[in-house]
Amino acid sequence: MADEDWQRRVRTVWWEIDAQGAAVCLVDQTLLPQQVSYLHLRHEHDVAEAITTLKVRGAPAIGVTAAFGIALGLYRFCNRHRQQEEQITSAKALAHVKEVGALLGSTRPTALNLFWAIARMIDCAEEVARMQATAEQMLQRLSQEAQAIADEDAEACWQMGQYGATLISDGDILLTHCNAGALATAGIGTALAPIYTAHKSGKHIHVYVDETRPVLQGARLTAWELQQEGVPLTLIADNMAGHFMRHGGIRAVFVGADRIAGNGDVANKIGTYSVAVLASVHQIPFYVVAPCATIDLTLASGEQIPIEKRPLDEVTTMRGIVIAPAGVRVANPAFDVTPHQYVTAIITERGIARPNYEETLRQHCRAKNPGKVDA
Ligand code: MRU
Repeated sequence: MADEDWQRRVRTVWWEIDAQGAAVCLVDQTLLPQQVSYLHLRHEHDVAEAITTLKVRGAPAIGVTAAFGIALGLYRFCNRHRQQEEQITSAKALAHVKEVGALLGSTRPTALNLFWAIARMIDCAEEVARMQATAEQMLQRLSQEAQAIADEDAEACWQMGQYGATLISDGDILLTHCNAGALATAGIGTALAPIYTAHKSGKHIHVYVDETRPVLQGARLTAWELQQEGVPLTLIADNMAGHFMRHGGIRAVFVGADRIAGNGDVANKIGTYSVAVLASVHQIPFYVVAPCATIDLTLASGEQIPIEKRPLDEVTTMRGIVIAPAGVRVANPAFDVTPHQYVTAIITERGIARPNYEETLRQHCRAKNPGKVDA
């Protein structure tokens, strides 16, 4: 069971109803670590904008945000019609839910959790519509479903922490890339969950944190999060990873994932592939930690995973300062794909999956209830 005190410290995304009405609440991650500023978003367009501009980011967190965003869209729809004293049929409410789902689904293409959460919310709305319930009843049901998605994510993080921590020994030096911690989820994180769990259990560990160009999720978010939890760390520029694998005694790499294909190929933050190849050369285990909601069994290989291309000024500027010559040709893929051959194991909320991933990932996704799958 999740340790609630621990989870209360970092609030990434939640749903609130106050005097002004319903809001999707977020810590604005673009301002971290200098400023901890919370946003109360009251329109689904603002939720979509927050996802696109990385105010909220990380695969599970954007899934949870989209689920709350759909509930918010329906809340506003019901309110508008209530004010006009108009009756809304559940069919109309369902059509609106689908529209909001399409809006939120157009924000970022790579993380499966986003589409998984939207599909789950739409399925739920369809079920309510079939029962000819009122739009208000649909709203109540969808806010519960969004909260369930958030709660299940927190529980999945906790489980991944328990399983993943068994792979960490006292004295280990680890490396992580991007931010796959509490800020990327509704719980304690994916890749950072085993690290927090091992640290909390008294194991002495040290974490090398890649800064993660171009948006610096490692430097700004992971370094901040680990520091808050008292986990010893060293922040390094991305191009130092090989050096520290050779000379720094790194014993394992832990990363998260945005989408995992059926054969175990993993899409994660750009630069993950280079880290995996380096880890393989240095015979360092490379672990991917992600919930089953990130696993896309409809894709045979990582070649089919859509890779988001982000604005070029993320590369040519750093926090508003131009660092490249005007007119230079630039590329900015936000993710890369690590072939499954480089992945030592994939840790989900159901246990530790090892190759052959075509079989073991299916076993993890088939298991209905959280609980260990021996794979
Ligand atoms: O572009 P971002 O910051 O959303 O990318 C996040 C990552 O790549 C994470 O490693 C991934 O979502 C796993 S998070 C638990």
